[in-house]
Amino acid sequence: MVQQSPGHAIITGATQGIGLEAARELARLGYRLTLVARDPDSLGRVAAGINALAGAGVVTTRVADLSLLRQVKRLGEEILAAGEPIQALVHNAGAYFNPRRVTGEGVETTWALNHLAVFGLTRLLEPLLLASAPARVLVVSSNAHNMVRDLPLDDLEYSRNYRALQAYGRSKLANILFVREQARQWSEASGLTINAVHPGVVRTRFFRGNGLMGWFWRTLLNRVAITPAAGARGLVQLAADSAMQGVTGKYFNQMTEKEPSALAQNADLAQRLWEASARRWGEVTGG
Ligand SMILES: NC(=O)c1ccc[n+]([C@@H]2O[C@H](COP(=O)([O-])OP(=O)(O)OC[C@H]3O[C@@H](n4cnc5c(N)ncnc54)[C@H](OP(=O)(O)O)[C@@H]3O)[C@@H](O)[C@H]2O)c1
Repeated sequence: MVQQSPGHAIITGATQGIGLEAARELARLGYRLTLVARDPDSLGRVAAGINALAGAGVVTTRVADLSLLRQVKRLGEEILAAGEPIQALVHNAGAYFNPRRVTGEGVETTWALNHLAVFGLTRLLEPLLLASAPARVLVVSSNAHNMVRDLPLDDLEYSRNYRALQAYGRSKLANILFVREQARQWSEASGLTINAVHPGVVRTRFFRGNGLMGWFWRTLLNRVAITPAAGARGLVQLAADSAMQGVTGKYFNQMTEKEPSALAQNADLAQRLWEASARRWGEVTGG
C-alpha cells in the first residue's frame, strides 16, 4: 500500500545543525521538503543525501541569504509562485554576530536574520498558508531570551553599546513576541497555528566565525550540549505531531510547553514590535 505523504514542510537553515536533523526526520516521516539556505553547494549535498534515503524528488532547494531582506522577499515570491500547499513552515536559520555587523542593506545582521526575515517571510506566505490550512508555523527561538531586560523600540538594531549575546537574546525575544501577536491575529477558524521553541543547548557549529568570544561560548556550552538530532525533536513534534494540532501562541522548551519571560508575554510590546517590524521591512524591501 502506498502511504500518503503528510504534506510539504519548508525549513530554513537546513544545511547543518538542528535544521538538517529536523529535515532528515521530517523526510523520514514522509514529508516533501523545501530546504532554504544560502550556500548552493551545501544545499545540493544535503538534498542529494535526503533524496537518496527518502526517494528522488522529496527535496526542493531554494537559495537565499536570509540576512538580506530583499532576498527573503524574492524567496517568498518564488514559493508563492510555485504554489505548493504548505503544512509546516519552520524558521530555523539563525546566528550570533560578534562584533556588530550591518548587512549590505544597512540592517544590523542579528536583527535582520533572526527576526526580520522570520517576520517578513511569514507575512509574505500568509495567503498560501491560509489556502493550505490547517498549517503550522514554527520559530526556533532560545532560552537566551530570558537574559533580556528591555527591548528599546527606538534602537532595535542596537547601534548603542552593542553586546552580541544581548543582541542575540533580543532577537530571540522578538521571535516569541512575534509568535504571540501573530497567533492573536490568526483566528481559530483560519486553521493556522504558530509556536516558538527552544531546541535545548545543542552541540552545533553555531558560534563559528565569531573570534575568541565565539570559541569561549562554544567550549563552555559544549560541555552540557545535546546532539543535533536530540535538538531537532521539539521542532519535529511541533511541526508534525497530531497532538499539537490547534496549539498556538505558545513557547516550548524542547518538547514541553513553558512560560517565557515576563517581557515575552507583554502584549502591548508585541503589538508595537509588530508595527516597527512592518515599517522596517517596508523601508528595506519597498513593501
Ligand atoms: N545550538 C544551540 O545550542 C541553540 C540553542 C538555542 C537556539 N538555537 C537556535 O537554533 C537554530 C539553529 O541553530 P544551530 O545551532 O543548528 O546552528 P548552525 O549549526 O549554525 O545552523 C544554522 C543554519 O542556518 C543557516 N544560516 C545561517 N545564516 C544564514 C543566512 N544568512 N541565510 C540562510 N541561512 C543561514 C546555516 O547555513 P550555513 O551552513 O550556510 O551557515 C545553517 O544551515 C538557530 O535559530 C539558533 O539560534 C540554537
